Amino acid sequence: TDDTAGSTDVRIERDGAIATVIIDRPKALNALSPAVLTALAEAFGALAAEGAAVRGVILVGAGGRAFVAGADIRELAGFTPEQGEATALLGHRLAAVIEALPAPVIACVDGFALGGGLELALACDFIYATDASGFGQPEVRLGLIPGFGGTVRLPRAIGLARAKELIYSGRRIGIDEAVEIGLVVRRFPDRDALLAGARETLGLVAQNAAPAVGLAKRVLVTATGTPTATASGLEVEGFRDAFRTDDMHEGVAAFLEKREPVFTGS
Ligand code: CAA
Repeated sequence: TDDTAGSTDVRIERDGAIATVIIDRPKALNALSPAVLTALAEAFGALAAEGAAVRGVILVGAGGRAFVAGADIRELAGFTPEQGEATALLGHRLAAVIEALPAPVIACVDGFALGGGLELALACDFIYATDASGFGQPEVRLGLIPGFGGTVRLPRAIGLARAKELIYSGRRIGIDEAVEIGLVVRRFPDRDALLAGARETLGLVAQNAAPAVGLAKRVLVTATGTPTATASGLEVEGFRDAFRTDDMHEGVAAFLEKREPVFTGS
């Protein structure tokens, strides 16, 4: 088994303003040990520290068989309830770091996204996947429940009844059903097409005003699940904050002057 430290299992590759975060622990199907969870949070924290220099992030698993096959069952086996709680908190903290990053994060799933792996994908902005992908929340088969946000984000993504059906049954679904229920927003024949598709989308994102994309993400992340009045208030605040950015004034002026905008990211 691969018991190396988290930092060696997670790496960042850069292509200009697009970053790719790679979970590279293929011997355990990229399972999320506490060390990997910590390394992922550090990687996303480092990208956040770069501000508008990072315009989009691709999150992907190495090895070709799995995005992430879940929390590390080998490590969970010996946990006390308190250690279980601490691990769940690590997973939730990682999700919060991903959601706090102003740049969009696309989960690129090629293979298994199970348990904590699906929960990690759900913490990203949306999921692209290959035809060879499989999704599920199999925790109850182990006597567990989802612990990295599955009971929170899966219902928001696919609706409460569908989430209950998947979580209670633990059954795995393939790409056809994942697309049909809206879990996966776009499918690709293979990994190369998947990564090219994600890069293309993030290329479009990168042409837009960085503060505006960040504000839109902030509102979408914080407002979802809140009552209409709260969500509306958060949108109004985000709309107001856009007027504080140079890029908003540039974007509107460029439209009126019938020219391309020159955004600076401020
Ligand atoms: N944790 C630790 N190791 C894992 C793992 C996991 N979640 N998933 C797979 N592995 C390891 C296997 O133990 C195996 O290691 P060895 O070669 O050392 O035996 C290796 O990865 C390859 O796996 P398999 O031999 O099982 O491969 P397979 O093709 O037969 O099956 C699979 C693939 C269906 C994904 C199967 O590995 C599997 O069911 N994995 C567990 C999925 C799961 O239950 N995930 C939920 C975990 S609990 C959780 O995530 C809690 C939470 O919400 C936070």
